[in-house]
Amino acid sequence: MTCQPNPADEQPPRQTAVPTRAAFRDAMARLGASVSLVTTDGPFGPAGFTATAVCSVTDAPPTLLVCLNRQASVYAAMIGNGVLAVNLLAPGHRPLAALFGGRTPTDERFAAASWRRGHTAAPLLEGAAVSFDCRIANAVGAGTHTVLLCAVVGIECAAAAESLVYFDRAFHVLPAVAD
Ligand SMILES: Cc1cc2nc3c(=O)[nH]c(=O)nc-3n(C[C@H](O)[C@H](O)[C@H](O)COP(=O)(O)O)c2cc1C
Repeated sequence: MTCQPNPADEQPPRQTAVPTRAAFRDAMARLGASVSLVTTDGPFGPAGFTATAVCSVTDAPPTLLVCLNRQASVYAAMIGNGVLAVNLLAPGHRPLAALFGGRTPTDERFAAASWRRGHTAAPLLEGAAVSFDCRIANAVGAGTHTVLLCAVVGIECAAAAESLVYFDRAFHVLPAVAD
């Protein structure tokens, strides 16, 4: 099912009373977002997953949020290690986004790229558009997910600014120069 437009002759647009999960997902497919690999390491071991539910919270102190499904295999490691890196992907990272998108063993995910360390133990992706090195400051449950509020303790930016984005259930390249 796709997001259903309202009839053109209705003003204002009609709203469905209680959106189904499918209707919500179809509507959210229209929200384009940068694709990140969220990674961690520490006493609970390495883990990483593909994420689009990443957002700035405030710049004072620098804080971002990550929404993580509690059913994901990476959940215990993310929470237990208490640190994570948000690695914004560049266009060439499309295969990595698929690999970290689920059902692939952890060692296979990490073997597909090169990593380095920053201030925390969280793996920083070589060639990422940006890597945010973070400590998890708070975690808030919301339905099936946990919202991780992350204090940013380090930032590494690549020279190139092209971005891999996810929109309408497909990957796209966002060029550095606006048209
Ligand atoms: C484009 C894309 C975006 C995703 N965004 C998120 C996200 O923001 N939060 C999340 O919990 N899972 C997200 N996922 C799913 C996770 O990547 C996946 O559940 C994770 O790798 C765990 O899978 P596993 O349980 O097989 O390890 C996304 C997947 C894809 C392909």
